Amino acid sequence: MAEPALKLDKLVKRFGTHAAVDGIDLAVAPGEFVTLLGPSGCGKTTTLNLIAGFLAPDGGHIQLGGRMVENLPPFQRDLGMVFQDYALFPHMTVADNVAFGLKMRKVAKGEISARVAEALALVKLDGFGARRPNQLSGGQRQRVALARALVIRPTMLLLDEPLSNLDLKLREEMRTEISSLQRRLGIATVFVTHDQGEALTMSDRIAVMRDGMIEQIGAPAEIYERPATRFVAGFIGSINMVPAKVDAIEGGAVRLATPAGPARARIDGVSAGAGVTLTVRPERLKLGPGAPADAVAWQARVERVVYTGARLEVQLALADGSSAMAEATNDGSTRFTAGQTTTLWFRPEDAWVIRESA
Ligand SMILES: Nc1ncnc2c1ncn2[C@@H]1O[C@H](COP(=O)(O)OP(=O)(O)OP(=O)(O)O)[C@@H](O)[C@H]1O
Ligand SMILES: [Mg+2]
Repeated sequence: MAEPALKLDKLVKRFGTHAAVDGIDLAVAPGEFVTLLGPSGCGKTTTLNLIAGFLAPDGGHIQLGGRMVENLPPFQRDLGMVFQDYALFPHMTVADNVAFGLKMRKVAKGEISARVAEALALVKLDGFGARRPNQLSGGQRQRVALARALVIRPTMLLLDEPLSNLDLKLREEMRTEISSLQRRLGIATVFVTHDQGEALTMSDRIAVMRDGMIEQIGAPAEIYERPATRFVAGFIGSINMVPAKVDAIEGGAVRLATPAGPARARIDGVSAGAGVTLTVRPERLKLGPGAPADAVAWQARVERVVYTGARLEVQLALADGSSAMAEATNDGSTRFTAGQTTTLWFRPEDAWVIRESA
């Protein structure tokens, strides 16, 4: 394998007695887009600040392109960083903001203006060089911050929630723009967000963080469809979780007992009697007739139907009174009414079993 662009080895950072980063191992391949996803306070920004050199680790190692960098100051690490609040200099023009890192590095004047123009073109801000940040829209300021990070031709990009200050429409546009720019430049990127939609759509891999540790790392589909823990399952998207006990092992499948009824699912390496959690995403739960012979089918009562436009969210009560949610495409053919009793079903291959019990 090629030398990773970034390698974190048992990285630790403490504030007082609290470990904000508590033993993180992570390798980012050249050109790879890796997202750190997790709730507020889980250590995402602290991890970026350690990589960038704004904080010194209390343990572990950081390698950039195979080089140990713990003892290098930020400007010698050749990283481009975009901060959550952009941190643009308000009194400087756009061009001077972008030129800042090059001046710090004592790049020749003629080269600076050429590279600033090139960076502004890259983020589609040609002609904006003379403006000041307060004469720009939020999305344009965000692009200036990106140009300022890219102009030094960094070996890697670190982006700390760069889209969180933008409105929904602009955020979705910038998602696409950052992704295509990142791919075009082939630059390894660590992106921080607590927005699961951003993480799923932009990343090659997602590292889900909790309490200073990485709980699971994998491709978006792996994290969404095969979460390793209840925390990961619950953090990304909606999910139905049903406590279950392994009744019997039958070939590659297991029979499960749940309060909502019997079920079958695929899972390896568990023994009869083990407590687990059966999970099914709402879009994989079906209602009404049409279940194939091998489907798991339970009785359920429709509690409420929430209209979201393209989809209908059907809230259900299961046999034991617990709640579940099914999501149906609003194709005009499906009608559900609160109070109606129906069959809820899913194919065993659409369920996923987590080894932790509820
Ligand atoms: N300079 C500091 N001094 C003391 N504690 C700190 C400091 N910086 C961060 N912390 C604590 O470390 C933990 C991790 O903070 P961090 O900023 O890395 O979280 P985060 O995942 O980026 O959260 P958010 O999504 O809210 O930005 C938090 O409990 C925070 O209070
Ligand atoms: Mg943060």
